[in-house]
Amino acid sequence: MDRAASVVMRRCDLLGSISEEPDRLTRPFASDAMRRAHDAVTAWMREAGMEVGRDNIGNLRAIYEGAMGARETLLIGSHIDSVRDAGRYDGPLGVLVGIAAVQGLHDRGTRLPFAIEVVAFADEEGLRYGTTYLGSKALAGSFDAADLDRTDADGVTMAQAILGFGGDPDSIEKDRSSEGPLLGYCEVHIEQGPVLEAKGLPVGVVSAIAGQSRRQLKFTGEAAHAGTTPMEHRKDALVAASVFVQAVADYAESRPGLVATVGQLTVQPGAANVVPGEVTLSLDVRHADDAVRLRASKVLVDIAGKIAHTRGIAVTTNQVSENGTVQCSQHLTSMLAQAVQDLGHESAQLASGAGHDAVEMAGVTDVAMLFVRCKGGISHNPAESVDEADVAVAIDVLEKFLELLAAEG
Ligand code: GLV
Ligand code: MN
Ligand code: MN
Repeated sequence: MDRAASVVMRRCDLLGSISEEPDRLTRPFASDAMRRAHDAVTAWMREAGMEVGRDNIGNLRAIYEGAMGARETLLIGSHIDSVRDAGRYDGPLGVLVGIAAVQGLHDRGTRLPFAIEVVAFADEEGLRYGTTYLGSKALAGSFDAADLDRTDADGVTMAQAILGFGGDPDSIEKDRSSEGPLLGYCEVHIEQGPVLEAKGLPVGVVSAIAGQSRRQLKFTGEAAHAGTTPMEHRKDALVAASVFVQAVADYAESRPGLVATVGQLTVQPGAANVVPGEVTLSLDVRHADDAVRLRASKVLVDIAGKIAHTRGIAVTTNQVSENGTVQCSQHLTSMLAQAVQDLGHESAQLASGAGHDAVEMAGVTDVAMLFVRCKGGISHNPAESVDEADVAVAIDVLEKFLELLAAEG
């Protein structure tokens, strides 16, 4: 078996054990577990001949210098935060494959006509603060300082979390990628879907990343005694929220390509003998066509209003994030496809339904993504699984891609 791939697999296992929770993988932004993950990843980056630094939002950024006179930088990256009860490959695989490719250059004593910066992004999932891509936003210069006032479940503001992690929340603007002109951004990621497995292919090249809209909705009724309040006098926020959850599913199920999810729900006061007075929930809407997605978001918010009105309660909506569909660079993507073919594989193109740091990076440079087949298409689940042989292909493709980029002069 390929040594580099087996190193990547072992490192994914190790990072998969670094968690805030004892029995499952949960590694949020700026957490203690993230600090321990940084120690491990920093050591691997150094071993691959890179200079490692950490920026204010908490991205690990490692530079592999180019040959004498090199002016441009190619960014390679992905994220090392996770969802709750995560799999071990979503994010870390891309960072570790990037380090493996640089390790190959370092071992051979090769310098390319451009520098490489490998980035382990601090937050892509948005688990702690609800808003995604904090790490790549800092690099792309699109970080919104208003987010610093957001609070986590314990009431800790994002600014406090950043300070506690050793960053300066007021200096995030200075962390924009500035290592000379950028050649582009390349991200390797597990597919998180079933297409490659169905086609029998180890890797695939991403054509575009579907847009996504996130909203937070709060239904406010009236908390009341569960034993004494007659049904017709209740203003039960959870009943309204439940009707809404069903309406979201019904709407999305009847529109091709549309996916809509309520994945988070908080019930207050949250006791068996109290009629729920308040429910806060998340709404995530995605479609490859921005117009369809935006219309769906609006219609669903209107439906929430009607449900609340019918039940005599209030509902408020807060926009958490809005990202349009991103097209990958034709130039870099065709070079990735060339690399896949040069290694003797068919190069399939596929769109991504999942969001990636490449979305933010596309605001400042050309982006390309390589997907790696995953078992059953399962992701955001501890059962996430990839084959070592496919990881070996991904490393080879990335190395070939670097070679083709270098040959371009
Ligand atoms: C990131 O994993 C996403 O929500 O697409
Ligand atoms: Mn994810
Ligand atoms: Mn991911």
